[in-house]
Amino acid sequence: MSRRFPHPRERRLVFKNVDREGWTNDIQAYLNDGGYDDLRKALSMKPQDIVNEVKTSQLRGRGGAGFSCGVKWGFIRPDEKKPVYLICNADESEPGTFKDRYIIHQDPHQLIEGMVISCYAVNARLAYIYIRGEFPEGARILEKAIAEAHAHGFLGKNILGSGFDLEIYVHRGAGAYICGEETGLIESLEGKRPYPRIKPPYFPAVLGLYMSPTIVNNVETLCNAKHIVRMGGAEFAKIGRPNNTGTRVLCVSGDVQKPGYFEFEVGALTMGELLYDICGGPKPGRKIKAVIPGGSSAKVLRADESYKIKVKQPDGSMADKMLPFNDIVLDFDSLAAVGSMAGSGGVIVMDDSRDMVWALNNINEFYAHESCGQCTPCREGSLWMKKISDRLVAGLGVQGDDKNLLNVADNIAGRTICAFGEACSWPVQSFLQKFPDDFKAAAKNHLPEGARTALEALAPEVPHGREALAH
Ligand SMILES: Cc1cc2nc3c(=O)[nH]c(=O)nc-3n(C[C@H](O)[C@H](O)[C@H](O)COP(=O)(O)O)c2cc1C
Ligand code: SF4
Repeated sequence: MSRRFPHPRERRLVFKNVDREGWTNDIQAYLNDGGYDDLRKALSMKPQDIVNEVKTSQLRGRGGAGFSCGVKWGFIRPDEKKPVYLICNADESEPGTFKDRYIIHQDPHQLIEGMVISCYAVNARLAYIYIRGEFPEGARILEKAIAEAHAHGFLGKNILGSGFDLEIYVHRGAGAYICGEETGLIESLEGKRPYPRIKPPYFPAVLGLYMSPTIVNNVETLCNAKHIVRMGGAEFAKIGRPNNTGTRVLCVSGDVQKPGYFEFEVGALTMGELLYDICGGPKPGRKIKAVIPGGSSAKVLRADESYKIKVKQPDGSMADKMLPFNDIVLDFDSLAAVGSMAGSGGVIVMDDSRDMVWALNNINEFYAHESCGQCTPCREGSLWMKKISDRLVAGLGVQGDDKNLLNVADNIAGRTICAFGEACSWPVQSFLQKFPDDFKAAAKNHLPEGARTALEALAPEVPHGREALAH
């Protein structure tokens, strides 16, 4: 899935060089384009001033949770005695997300420049790029770019004569979704099984890599650091909307005519504009049925529904308003207000040919496979949810399976060590809430007692009948 020319409505900042005519990913192309000038500027500033600019910019993390980048950096004390580390999260494991890989492949020096600036701001002398194992070419490109940056004095000792030293290492994962979760990632980087750590106390900015203060940021977030230094935090904050600033790369996949990646000012588009004006609408003869707006763990939205939101009145009071699906603004706060999230920017579109039970089963299968197994509700629950949706898809559902699914999901969310618990529960909760009839219909089958043996023979690993209810 690739697109050569940006759509006229795009504003390309982080993706400026992606698919650019005549562009190569070597350092000379980058230098010819003014590359590393923002680093020079940053090194002439005080680290704390850069942190303040990032705070002023209101930049929010692009990895999933949308946490304020400036606030996160502010957790590092300027007089910190322990070594400080910075980790670039290039795991890009959330299904539906395909943006970081294009930055890495086509513009690795933008990421490296962003990282050097970020490390200088938080006083980190050692940084890692944790890249998912499935991206061997990306890892090779980054290694080459790091060597080039070294050769030009942008990395190593006394960078550009500033007295600041920094090394960046690339670390390849082995292909596990949970390594994208920041504390699982840290454990993996330390050479251990990637069991996420409990927060508190293990907030990375306090007790991170080797129990030292560690900043973990997504690839796209770190690239933005250089743009903030160049234009200043206040100018950056003018892009987008208050609390939803900058640009955002959206990855659109599924049932639209023109899927792909696009970079827009945050909140510049509504859902309808993205799906119809930018992505060409549904395939011929089809209607859009549902959209998952922020990667597979975000709650699904129904396309024929209106959403109740709170709107500020001229007198300052709040009133309810019904917002049609197509009018939902694509920013962090608006997607949260309709009950979902902007997440990782992965917009997954489903049309009316899609079976919602099948779609959820597909997601359940992923999460059951990826649970690290450390906490019981997640380890057992994600598998139970998969088993129930497996049998619904196989036409072997039993009455009450829809309720069972919801019951399991409700007992995972909020009861686990890491947010994977929510990530695997939210799809189940939202699919059942938005498409109850589909699940009721699939769960309607009453299996005659005598049929159990035959069904078990067909799919022995799937629990049936009363036995299923006991699971
Ligand atoms: C299960 C799970 C998987 C995650 N996967 C990723 C990922 O692949 N890439 C990423 O940047 N963040 C991922 N995150 C979010 C990270 O834990 C962390 O919040 C993020 O890297 C912080 O960077 P940001 O503030 O720049 O967004 C994941 C979180 C969870 C709970
Ligand atoms: S919630 Fe799931 S993935 Fe996260 S620590 Fe617990 S078992 Fe592991």
